[in-house]
Amino acid sequence: MYKVAVMPGDGIGPEVVNEGLKVLRTLQAQHGLDFDFQELEINAERYLRTGKLLTDEDIEQLRGFDAIFLGAIGDDRVPPGILEKGILLKARFAFDQYINHRPAQLWKPFGRLKREVDFKIDVYRENTEDFYIGAGGRIKEGACEMTLDIERELYDLSIDIEANASNTDDYAFEIGIMSKKNIERFADYVIEMTKLAGEKRITVVDKANVLSNIYHLWREVWSEKGKQAGIEIQYMLVDAMSMALVKNPDKFRIVATPNMFGDILTDLLAEVTGGLGLAPGGNINPNGLSMYEPVHGSAPKYKGMNTINPTATILAAKMLVDNMGRRDLGLKVEHAVRRTFDKGIYTQDLGGKAKTSEFGDAVVAELRRM
Ligand code: IPM
Ligand code: MN
Repeated sequence: MYKVAVMPGDGIGPEVVNEGLKVLRTLQAQHGLDFDFQELEINAERYLRTGKLLTDEDIEQLRGFDAIFLGAIGDDRVPPGILEKGILLKARFAFDQYINHRPAQLWKPFGRLKREVDFKIDVYRENTEDFYIGAGGRIKEGACEMTLDIERELYDLSIDIEANASNTDDYAFEIGIMSKKNIERFADYVIEMTKLAGEKRITVVDKANVLSNIYHLWREVWSEKGKQAGIEIQYMLVDAMSMALVKNPDKFRIVATPNMFGDILTDLLAEVTGGLGLAPGGNINPNGLSMYEPVHGSAPKYKGMNTINPTATILAAKMLVDNMGRRDLGLKVEHAVRRTFDKGIYTQDLGGKAKTSEFGDAVVAELRRM
């Protein structure tokens, strides 16, 4: 049995998750996949009602599952940062999901570039370190308030800062941290996936020309790992990379990025492929619990309207199936989405007329025909 914790979340989350579940249930019926779905309310609603984010009990409960299928978290009534850090990032850290795999491919005819080139890029974003580590503070009126939001098992960290500011000064700092151990295991995974895809080169993104401590360590590991594996490592600075992804996306196939740059570049790339409505992601722990979600947020203003594009969530379901070891069925889902688009069925963000549920039904109908 494959136990899936379903977390629809907030805003349009439940609507898109519904369509993803339709697809998974269809595969279940067609191919005898032994899914067991259980819905959990871990979202803004519960937080507003009870003050609970992702609690220790939630984490314990989730450990009993094989995968998490997430809609979106976010609500206008909650100040920015609380739900993101308290639920989404907390889950990524708690389950040590150190890879964020965000595939991006051109979905003709929706690509936003004038020159429509075919491309398929697998972006692997480091997912637990860098500037997301939560180490920061404020030095105000001569006093220092320092936070280190998360406990990490990878290293022992203690920072002692003496505030020496005068009464009128006001500073803030946020520290990016990377550990060799984490970069190594991340690189190992990306290299394994690169070999599996039959590719020979990885484009590694950073800003080593300025942030030279953190990204020199990053490069040391990548160069070493690349050499050992016989994989070519192409380094790109993030500013040049953002240009290159718009100019020549077809020149890239496998891309590895630090956490923060990956956050930015995957939104950019999603737009290039046709918009955020098409971009799925998997927060991966290869030996533990992984979490699949659309890259987009909860879009509260579209809530309950049945108009949002569920493709990203359907493709996140595809990734779940891939990682169960059924890449054949993952491919089937991708083909079903392709055929649905080819029939002119798509949602309004792509210029179509289909409702959220109609699009999901159409994908299911294609699956049944295959
Ligand atoms: C994403 C989101 C998150 C991130 C936020 C909501 C914390 O933008 O999944 O890309 O920055 O990783
Ligand atoms: Mn993002």
